[in-house]
Amino acid sequence: MAKPGALSSFLSCLLVLFFLSSVLAVTHDHQDTQVYIVYMGSLPFRVDYTPMSHHMSILQEVAGESSFQGRLLRSYKRSFNGFAARLTESERELVADMDGVVSVFPNKKLKLQTTASWDFMGLKEGKGTKRNPSVESDTIIGVFDGGIWPESDSFSDKGFGPPPKKWKGICAGGKNFTCNNKLIGARHYAPGDARDSSGHGTHTASVAAGNAVANSSFFGLGNGTVRGAVPASRIAAYRVCAGECSDDSILSAFDDAIADGVDIISISIGDINVYPFDQDPIAIGAFHAMSKGILTVNSAGNTGPDMATVTSLAPWMLTVAASTTNRAFVSKVVLGNGKTLVGKAVNGVDLKGKKFPIVYGKSAAKSASQAKCAEDCTPDCLDASLVKGKILVCTRNLPYVAYKKGAVAAILKDSSDWAQINVLPVSGLQEDDFESFLSYIKSTNSPEAAVLKSEAIFNHKAPKVLSFSSRGPNIIAADILKPDITAPGLEILAANSLMALPFYDTTHVKYSVESGTSIACPHVAGVAAYIKTFHPKWSPSMIKSAIMTTAWSMNASQTHFASTEFAYGAGHVDPIAATNPGLVYDLTKSEYLAFLCGMNYNVTTLKLISGEAVTCTEKILPRNLNYPSMSAKLGSNSSFTVTFNRTVTNVGTPNSTYKSKVVLNHGSKLNVKVLPSVLSMKLLNEKQSFTVTVSGNDLDSKLPSSANLIWSDGTHNVRSPIVVYTGDFPSLSP
Ligand SMILES: *[C@@H]1O[C@H](CO)[C@@H](O)[C@H](O)[C@H]1NC(C)=O
Ligand SMILES: *[C@@H]1O[C@H](CO)[C@@H](O)[C@H](O)[C@H]1NC(C)=O
Ligand SMILES: *[C@@H]1O[C@H](CO)[C@@H](O)[C@H](O)[C@H]1NC(C)=O
Ligand SMILES: *[C@@H]1O[C@H](CO)[C@@H](O)[C@H](O)[C@H]1NC(C)=O
Ligand SMILES: *[C@@H]1O[C@H](CO)[C@@H](O)[C@H](O)[C@H]1NC(C)=O
Ligand SMILES: *[C@@H]1O[C@H](CO)[C@@H](O)[C@H](O)[C@H]1NC(C)=O
Ligand SMILES: *[C@@H]1O[C@H](CO)[C@@H](O)[C@H](O)[C@H]1NC(C)=O
Ligand SMILES: *[C@@H]1O[C@H](CO)[C@@H](O)[C@H](O)[C@H]1NC(C)=O
Repeated sequence: MAKPGALSSFLSCLLVLFFLSSVLAVTHDHQDTQVYIVYMGSLPFRVDYTPMSHHMSILQEVAGESSFQGRLLRSYKRSFNGFAARLTESERELVADMDGVVSVFPNKKLKLQTTASWDFMGLKEGKGTKRNPSVESDTIIGVFDGGIWPESDSFSDKGFGPPPKKWKGICAGGKNFTCNNKLIGARHYAPGDARDSSGHGTHTASVAAGNAVANSSFFGLGNGTVRGAVPASRIAAYRVCAGECSDDSILSAFDDAIADGVDIISISIGDINVYPFDQDPIAIGAFHAMSKGILTVNSAGNTGPDMATVTSLAPWMLTVAASTTNRAFVSKVVLGNGKTLVGKAVNGVDLKGKKFPIVYGKSAAKSASQAKCAEDCTPDCLDASLVKGKILVCTRNLPYVAYKKGAVAAILKDSSDWAQINVLPVSGLQEDDFESFLSYIKSTNSPEAAVLKSEAIFNHKAPKVLSFSSRGPNIIAADILKPDITAPGLEILAANSLMALPFYDTTHVKYSVESGTSIACPHVAGVAAYIKTFHPKWSPSMIKSAIMTTAWSMNASQTHFASTEFAYGAGHVDPIAATNPGLVYDLTKSEYLAFLCGMNYNVTTLKLISGEAVTCTEKILPRNLNYPSMSAKLGSNSSFTVTFNRTVTNVGTPNSTYKSKVVLNHGSKLNVKVLPSVLSMKLLNEKQSFTVTVSGNDLDSKLPSSANLIWSDGTHNVRSPIVVYTGDFPSLSP
């Protein structure tokens, strides 16, 4: 993205150019224009201020009376000030210099990142799970996504009373879109209406707050009761994506959702590129949400396992990685010789154990010269007549090709840790199994096999962060550990859109299986809402702290940077423990501003983020931000000493004494001192500060060194990861 144009908080010297030309409204073909977002910061506290007419007058001023009509695409006027409009390059420059305009930036496009999981995490229905039904029913989760399927049983309002009194939103889902007392609001910014066509938004909303729906399954797979974290909560759907998600739509949704009165925002959207906070619409929107007491939960992204791929980096958001649960789907292959191989795939097609002849891609080439590309199942290289009715074997490419060529099933080499969800029976074999499969094919003139319907197995190695989940370090704020937390994001059964046809050409399914950090994100948004039902007054940072410090601890790899805290942050979310953290690391808006000052964001860029004129009277070093995890990037491998300043707030019991304990992770040679090492909290909400000094030498640039600080009063264990690292990672300064 280009840098925003010249920014100005000074008085512009432009004169207002009213009535320069004819007053006829002309609809122009705006070929030389592009959509820009004109961001104007916080709304003025003036009763007589009408944002839309201000926006129109700005446009009129730069574009002239004859051509400003039809240029204004959107006015943000509820939670912050600004608009989206079509502008030429020269108009953009004029607008950027105008009084009151904080920044003008092009409208980028972001991407959507695509229930047994609740039992896995201990949030079991009926079985000792405490609920606060009346407050849960007053809790509203705002889901920014690709829309929603309002008729899904997951969003039925059977048993629901009218929307909570605080709700100020509307049902503006478009034609033929009806809300109810469960799905209390809908808006759309992307073309069309708020109806979900891909299934993504329906899936994410139901994971966070879907009703409990018994006897749900995907072609019989995963059958049982599907539900969200807070089934009694209300949902407001904001459709910001139609294939892609524009910055403009995202900012509009924040503007509306904050004013509508949502409690938590779940946004399974991200960019594959990183932008400084002042150019990142999710970071900007989330800052406004945070300052109004709303926590934004965002997916880490699906661009792992490479390091420094996480793009959700602002400390005021909760960033979620994706991991496995104890349920995995396998798809067995029974060979003609009776041997069974266990592959991965989610396939609901039951061929009843019938064996079919096997054809290797290489042998189904259109011509001898195409053998290599046929082995990879490149569509143009395969002769459909040789594939039809058989099991096609490929080393790579989508089984969709096999399906299109008329194969009955496909077997592929697949060493990934997530299963394909497919249009026909498929099994993905790991390298070794694939090799033994190939030797079977070579051993006989008429190889045959049966690809069985998938079955669920117990995965005792869970949770493990998935390869696709984006990894840290944080390339904007190197000392803020990201992602923050991990949650289930593999093969999760949840509600689907009846317009979506991803798996079987003509079969619509009410519930589907999906994987991705997109699915992990609403799990944590649901947990945040669950916490809020017990602690309605808690700030977003308190909720975030509770989730992080009570997380299950995960084991850091001693060999792979990508399997350390940079994959899972504080660990795996624990919904029940998170309601009772004992101590929390709280943060206020002014501390986040001081942190931004400490990162050398200046008056101009600070205004882009917060919408206000901020002078940096106080600066906080990023590592001294009162964050629930502690991380420091060091310049070299020589000896070092770093200090972290922290303050905890007692939300447990009065008269409690917390003792500190430091547990070094295996292989770590850190020396960690905590001062004071004991905290006595007489009162509820009492605050106490401490410092953590970490020293050592010879850091390994191939692996971070880490430890855990645990404050324990005998009942609560308040755990923070401490991670120091060095290495050559990209960095993006503000
Ligand atoms: C409204 O939407 C429902 C659900 O997709 C569909 O069955 C119905 O035909 C639609 N009605 C109209 C008038 O479009
Ligand atoms: C569950 O669904 C199956 C298939 O749709 C149906 O045969 C069965 O009766 C249902 N069971 C219950 C308890 O609703
Ligand atoms: C799922 O379906 C299988 C086979 O139909 C049945 O044995 C099992 O009890 C079902 N499980 C649940 C939780 O409904
Ligand atoms: C971490 O390692 C310990 C000891 O090796 C083991 O008992 C524990 O199950 C592991 N935890 C995870 C989440 O893998
Ligand atoms: C603020 O920082 C931005 C980005 O680094 C820079 O372009 C701008 O000139 C700075 N403004 C001031 C007033 O220092
Ligand atoms: C540490 O850095 C020095 C140079 O500053 C280098 O000679 C040495 O090999 C490094 N050691 C390790 C373990 O990376
Ligand atoms: C950190 O805490 C220590 C001890 O309370 C204090 O002396 C120091 O000024 C603090 N540093 C910062 C940067 O806040
Ligand atoms: C805390 O301790 C003080 C004196 O030690 C006592 O007066 C007070 O009642 C205690 N509070 C609670 C809630 O136990």
